Amino acid sequence: MKKVYIETYGCQMNVADTEVVFSILGREGYARTEEIGEADVIMANTCSVRDNAEQRIRGRIEQFNVYRKARPEVVVGILGCMAERLKDTLLESGKVDIVAGPDAYRSLPRLLAAASQGHPQIDVLLSREETYGDIAPVRVDKNGVSAFISIMRGCNNVCSYCVVPYTRGAERSRDPRTIVHEACACAQQGYREITLLGQNVDSYRFGEYDFARLLAMVAESVPALRIRFSTSNPQDISDAVLETMAAHGNICRHIHLPVQSGSDRMLEKMRRRYTREQYLDRVAKIRALMPDCAISTDVIAGFCSETEDDHRDTLTLFEEVGFDAAFMFQYSERPGTLAAKKYPDDVPPQVKTRRLEEIIALQNRLSLESNRRDVGKTFRVLVEGPSKRNPAELCGRNSQNKMCVWPDTVHRAGDFVDVKIKDCSQATLLGELA
Ligand code: SAH
Ligand code: SF4
Ligand code: F3S
Repeated sequence: MKKVYIETYGCQMNVADTEVVFSILGREGYARTEEIGEADVIMANTCSVRDNAEQRIRGRIEQFNVYRKARPEVVVGILGCMAERLKDTLLESGKVDIVAGPDAYRSLPRLLAAASQGHPQIDVLLSREETYGDIAPVRVDKNGVSAFISIMRGCNNVCSYCVVPYTRGAERSRDPRTIVHEACACAQQGYREITLLGQNVDSYRFGEYDFARLLAMVAESVPALRIRFSTSNPQDISDAVLETMAAHGNICRHIHLPVQSGSDRMLEKMRRRYTREQYLDRVAKIRALMPDCAISTDVIAGFCSETEDDHRDTLTLFEEVGFDAAFMFQYSERPGTLAAKKYPDDVPPQVKTRRLEEIIALQNRLSLESNRRDVGKTFRVLVEGPSKRNPAELCGRNSQNKMCVWPDTVHRAGDFVDVKIKDCSQATLLGELA
């Protein structure tokens, strides 16, 4: 039996895709290995969203070639967004045997067979239909508690900075019956939490089903499971979705709502389809319906022509919303995007870095303030396993997606326990069994 090793980079969609790849290859007799040294096939499922993500993977390709030189029968494959973006230029390096884009994974057995005969292979065709809806993923996460379910692929928003529409193609939604089937399978396999994934889950549409209806159907078909979803675009998250969340106790009180910038001028240049005002309006609606709902975000510092005023608008927006968490990035120009074609990448690197650091410092304070508000509260927490620092402590997340740690030698991964919060750091809630 040939052994396959896959490293996964980038977003949760890639984690879900790697699980699809293991399933497709498993049916053809390939076994999964976590030991790169014993692998016959070494692959990386890659990300192109920022230049540093790609640089990291270039470094890994060099490492993979150490194994390929030691054992010439080893096949090296690049999957995912970087495969789609760079296409045959990856093969030209002579360091890669297979290049397969996100919609080409059903061809992998054929590509592998040909590549192992010494013929480099490429398939980067994007599809309008492929959802891998019929494929039961082979879960790669170790604790068996939380599973990803992809509900749609691709993206039809053309945010001017973003490479994803080019690497993942047009948006398509997966048949809701296959989604519910997969959720039920997760419940049967002992999973306690599922996360519904898409680049823009709120634009999910399959026949009569929109995202609110899908969410309700999933929540009702697996009442014992926690449901999360990501990512929500501010202009598309509807009142119906918020009402569905509010009406279902098993849908987690957390919304990841990327804002990208607090400046209307930047939002327009970014081709986001909302204003600062409309964003704040969504936040107000979320809090009116679910006062205990956490809100996290993504932000980009130093987008094309960003001024100190624009940057201050981002800082004041952060302050006004008081985000519970944020993923914060410096703008990285991506070849082929609208921004790369239309706008010079003119904010100097040291200015980008300084602005990013200011946002991070502010968010650190906001995260701490958010956690302080939770001291004294009791949360239901899903146990993930022992805490990193102390084997006599367990860790897990509450509904708001905050990491909690408490002394506990009784419970195990997958248990739901009530934890009373006594103290906190900026990153963690510290408690005791309630
Ligand atoms: N579909 C999701 C985001 C996918 S990419 C959404 O629309 O919210 C994840 C995050 O990476 C984005 O939210 C954005 O903050 C960041 N990002 C995307 N392109 C980027 C670029 N060119 N430079 C820096 N950050 C970028
Ligand atoms: Fe990129 Fe915008 Fe699509 Fe998100 S919604 S993946 S940021 S184009
Ligand atoms: Fe990266 Fe592709 Fe996801 S570019 S963020 S792996 S969709």
